[in-house]
Amino acid sequence: MPKNDLILRAVRQEPIERFPVWLMRQAGRYMKEYRELRAREENFLSFCKNVDLAVKVSLLPLELLGVDAVIIFSDILVPLEALGVKVEFLEGEGPRLEWSGAVSDLKRYDPEENAFVYEIIRRVKKAQDEVPVIGFAGAPFTLASYMIEGRSSRDFRNTKLFMWDREYEFKRLMEVLVDTLHAYLVRQAEAGANLLQLFDSWTNYLSRSDYEEFVFPYVEELIERLKDSTDVPLIYFFKGSSSFLDLAEQTKADALSVDWSVDLSLEAVRRRKVLQGNLEPSVLYASDETIRFKALELLRGMPRKTGYIFNLGHGLAPDMEFEKVKLLVDTVKDYRIN
Ligand code: CP3
Repeated sequence: MPKNDLILRAVRQEPIERFPVWLMRQAGRYMKEYRELRAREENFLSFCKNVDLAVKVSLLPLELLGVDAVIIFSDILVPLEALGVKVEFLEGEGPRLEWSGAVSDLKRYDPEENAFVYEIIRRVKKAQDEVPVIGFAGAPFTLASYMIEGRSSRDFRNTKLFMWDREYEFKRLMEVLVDTLHAYLVRQAEAGANLLQLFDSWTNYLSRSDYEEFVFPYVEELIERLKDSTDVPLIYFFKGSSSFLDLAEQTKADALSVDWSVDLSLEAVRRRKVLQGNLEPSVLYASDETIRFKALELLRGMPRKTGYIFNLGHGLAPDMEFEKVKLLVDTVKDYRIN
């Protein structure tokens, strides 16, 4: 058991002295130490597969920021390679994926192909016993959208047309992704992950009815199957949170990570589930005073004494200043619940 188990107590709704804090994308280009290690591998995927480097990068936020949990360094697109999708990261342009669009062309997922990810978890745990380790995966819809768009998108037009015009094929794809992610996350839990997080980063582009029909049943099933297979607590992060909060609450997720569309001071009392989030990331571009003010506003408005994990409403960006991120983490750690 890690020395600092605040986040595990928070997720079980047990008493805590202060709210735990970690940040999505906490290991990344905004850190010069990350950029130095990153320069040792030519491409991003080989960097993710270099276990020594991935372990070092995973630990940077613990060493430099003093966060209350370490998320393993990897990427949500990693398991797609094992399905036979060609995945590349172009410098400065982001991901490029190639797939025929036919589910029958996908390979059967063998979780052994991602053995390096489980090894990173084991090694991060061995390297420190300070804080819990978070394993993660993309949620089925967010991964499907990358497979269909082939890159980051502004409007997810291809994904929506696929969903509406090729409904049967889309749903088959979602089923394949549920099976894949189940096997992948169970292996992460077996390797010793103390928490698991699912990233549904692009659901904010969907209407309520499309989320209800094309996304929710698969997230619900995946989480249900994970809960049957492992006791490791699970966090579901989904954008467009205010539109889908009532649905997300019906899943068996232990905690919901929400974006800034939700007013936590209201939701935290109404909702039974543990909440994580939801500071607007752009606050980190503001003055130190504003950062402190916004963080304290969120913390003071939090009507609960447990069952809350501080985080952003989405990830840190590469152009954020390290000192501002540190100020945010320190502000949360200095805040005492009374
Ligand atoms: O949180 C962490 O610190 C752990 C590592 C992590 C990364 N990506 C590292 C990364 C995690 C949890 C992710 C998740 C991820 N990846 C998501 C979901 C979270 C979110 O932000 O919505 C998504 C949508 C991706 C897909 C992805 N990976 C994109 C679009 C890009 C390119 C971004 C860009 O600006 O180039 C990546 C690459 C990536 N993943 C980087 C890092 C640190 C940067 C690549 C580099 O260093 O060269």
